[in-house]
Amino acid sequence: MANSLSELIGDFNKISLYIHIPFCKKRCYYCDFVSFTEGSIENYISALLSEVDLYREKLKRGVKTLYIGGGTPSFINEYYIKKIVEKLSEYLKLEEFTIEVNPDSFDEYKAKFYKDLGINRLSIGIQTFDDIVLKKSGRTHDAKEALRAYEIATKYFENVNVDFIIGLPGETWRSIEGIVDFIRVYTPKHISLYLLEIHEGTLISQFYKKHPDEVYERYDAVLTFLKSSGYERYEISNFALEGKYSKHNLVYWANLDYVGLGISAGGHLDSMRYNNVSTFEQYYTKLKKKEYPIEYKVINKIERETLESIFMMLRTKWGIDKKLIANLPKLDTVLDILSSKYEFFDGTKLNETGMDFSNLFLGELLKIWEDFYEN
Ligand SMILES: C[S@@+](CC[C@H](N)C(=O)[O-])C[C@H]1O[C@@H](n2cnc3c(N)ncnc32)[C@H](O)[C@@H]1O
Repeated sequence: MANSLSELIGDFNKISLYIHIPFCKKRCYYCDFVSFTEGSIENYISALLSEVDLYREKLKRGVKTLYIGGGTPSFINEYYIKKIVEKLSEYLKLEEFTIEVNPDSFDEYKAKFYKDLGINRLSIGIQTFDDIVLKKSGRTHDAKEALRAYEIATKYFENVNVDFIIGLPGETWRSIEGIVDFIRVYTPKHISLYLLEIHEGTLISQFYKKHPDEVYERYDAVLTFLKSSGYERYEISNFALEGKYSKHNLVYWANLDYVGLGISAGGHLDSMRYNNVSTFEQYYTKLKKKEYPIEYKVINKIERETLESIFMMLRTKWGIDKKLIANLPKLDTVLDILSSKYEFFDGTKLNETGMDFSNLFLGELLKIWEDFYEN
C-alpha cells in the first residue's frame, strides 16, 4: 500500500489534462460551474482544438491522465469527443481517461463509443435518488434513469465514480436511505460525497441560505456508513474501494502540473497558476489571435507555492509529502506549532476529525505562514 502521494503518482514528468465542455441541457439550480444551454458546439470544439496547439510544448511531456468534465460532456455528440481525442493522440500516454456523464444523456451506444475511444473511467452525476429533491434541484433525470445509467456504466467500465450531494432542497432522512441503500446494493468503486455549496447568484441561493444542523447530521450518517462498509476516505469528499483512487485528482491534490483547456478551465504549470476566460466571446477572440485565452495568471514565489501545495495535500489521507515541496527554512517549526495545538494533526496529515475541521485548521496555518514567510 502506498504511503505517500508521490509514490501513488509515480512519474510526475508527464502531465495531466483537463478539458471543459461548457454545455448542459438545463442548468441545475445549485450549479456555479461555467456552462450554457445555448451556443454553437461546433465552434467551441474547433476553438478548443486550436487551444491544444498553444500548449504543444507542454503536452509533449506526455499526458498521463485526461479528464473531460463540464458542464455535461455526455450532452454533446460523441463524435466531438472523438475529435478531441484524435487531436491529442500524439501526446497521450494515458493511465486514466475519465469523462463525466449525466444519466439522461448516456446510453449503451455512448458507453461502447467511449470505451472504444480509450476512456477507462466514468463519473456519473447522480446527486440523490429522491425524485422530489431531483426536481427541486432542476435535474433533468429521475432515480430510475440514474440507476439505469449506473448499470450501463458498470457493464462497460470497471472504474465508475458516482457523485452525490447532501443538503439539496427537499432532502429528508428518506433521501439519505435511498443513497445508502444504493451503495449497499451496488457498491460503486468510487464515490464523491459533497455537501451542497450555496453559491451567490445561483437560483437556489434565493430561497436557501444556510444548512440546518440536520444536513450536517445526514452527511455524517453517510460518512459513518461508508466507513463501516469498507470505503477509504482518501480525500475530504472522496471515497474508494480497492484503491480505485482518481489518479487525475491525485495530481491536483499533489499540486503537480496540469493543463486546463476550454472556457473557465484552470491549469498549474511549475509555479504558474492560471484560469481561462469564461465567455465564448472572449474565448474565441483570444484564440483567433492565437493568444492564450487566459483571464488570470499568477506566478507564485516559492513560499506561496509551498503553502498552496500543503493546503492541497492536507485534503488527502496521506497529507504533506516533503518530496513534492521545497525545503523551506523553519518548515518543521511551523508544522510542530500546529501539531502541538491540534490533536488531529500529526505534523504530516489530518485524521478524520481533522478533515472535518480542515477550514479552521487551514485558516490557522495561513496565519502562521504569513508570520513566518510573508512579513
Ligand atoms: C462539474 S459538476 C457537473 C457534473 C454533471 N454534469 C452533473 O450535473 O451531474 C461535478 C459535480 O460537482 C458537484 N456539484 C456541483 N455543484 C455543486 C454545489 N453547488 N455543491 C456541491 N456539489 C456540487 C456535483 O456532485 C456534480 O456532479
